Amino acid sequence: MTLAPFEVLYEADLPGYKMPADLHHLYGRLGFKTPVVYSNFVSSLDGIVTLGSKPSAGSIISGKSPADRFLMGLLRACADAVVIGAGTMRATPGHLWTPAHVYPDLATEFTSLRSALGRATEPRLVVVTASGELDFSHPALVKGAIVMTTADGAKKIGDRLPATCEVVVMGKGKNLDVAKVIEELRGRGLQVLLTEGGPHLVGQVIEAGLLDEAFLTVSPVIAGRKDDDERFGMVEGVELLPEHGAWSSLLSVRRHGDYLFLRYRTPAPAARA
Ligand SMILES: NC(=O)c1ccc[n+]([C@@H]2O[C@H](COP(=O)([O-])OP(=O)(O)OC[C@H]3O[C@@H](n4cnc5c(N)ncnc54)[C@H](OP(=O)(O)O)[C@@H]3O)[C@@H](O)[C@H]2O)c1
Repeated sequence: MTLAPFEVLYEADLPGYKMPADLHHLYGRLGFKTPVVYSNFVSSLDGIVTLGSKPSAGSIISGKSPADRFLMGLLRACADAVVIGAGTMRATPGHLWTPAHVYPDLATEFTSLRSALGRATEPRLVVVTASGELDFSHPALVKGAIVMTTADGAKKIGDRLPATCEVVVMGKGKNLDVAKVIEELRGRGLQVLLTEGGPHLVGQVIEAGLLDEAFLTVSPVIAGRKDDDERFGMVEGVELLPEHGAWSSLLSVRRHGDYLFLRYRTPAPAARA
């Protein structure tokens, strides 16, 4: 697959990793301060990121854009771990949260980048669940993941996870405290965290002021929604505006055909209105 380079329309002064030439040629500069938590979503023009019970919503909303898939791969390639909620895992059967799975043509370059950054060959997958309701034969669990759950969730899971997985019990409450989840991961040396969680998980991370950066692909499609549709925007279950809007700073804008690729710095709670 031959991908044309992204057109850089705006870029703030940002850190840049030393990248393999092919990756740099396509995307330009990319790097993160450490530690960091960053998210990645693709949205329709009308702000939709999920499609109710339809599986693989991101892929449908992006129209399988090769540029979007490349960026997903690149962002995964930078991360120590990819953190998702169980909702995203249940909605994406057969998926692997690795760089090569979304953009196999540049698998070798992604591995070279990871090696140059001193990262493990692939990012760790972290799945957050309160219910423990997982498809234990999901290939991403078979490959191996850290499953973070409640005491009740762990009971439900029992010994049904593949031996490649580790269960971390993070308290007795109904839900995990996302700040403690991130603290636990950092304690394990996982400092560069990409969340590919859906709107429920990311909403809590933003509410807690723990999201440093948001990558957002704007796909040139209008999704629409009916009154009773469960079609969410990037955040669900958490109300921010008018009192606590997470006003963000633009870090970069790239264009690829009709798609826009935005990168924002999201604020700490103290900086919010
Ligand atoms: N367009 C995009 O770029 C994009 C990106 C990611 C996801 N998505 C879509 O988003 C949809 C899923 O949305 P979602 O909001 O349900 O996804 P999600 O946030 O990844 O998953 C929600 C689930 O994660 C678990 N969870 C979240 N916070 C928790 C906490 N504090 N403690 C314990 N467990 C917690 C719960 O699992 P349990 O129910 O097991 O307790 C919860 O039901 C899918 O359709 C997916 O395709 C789209």
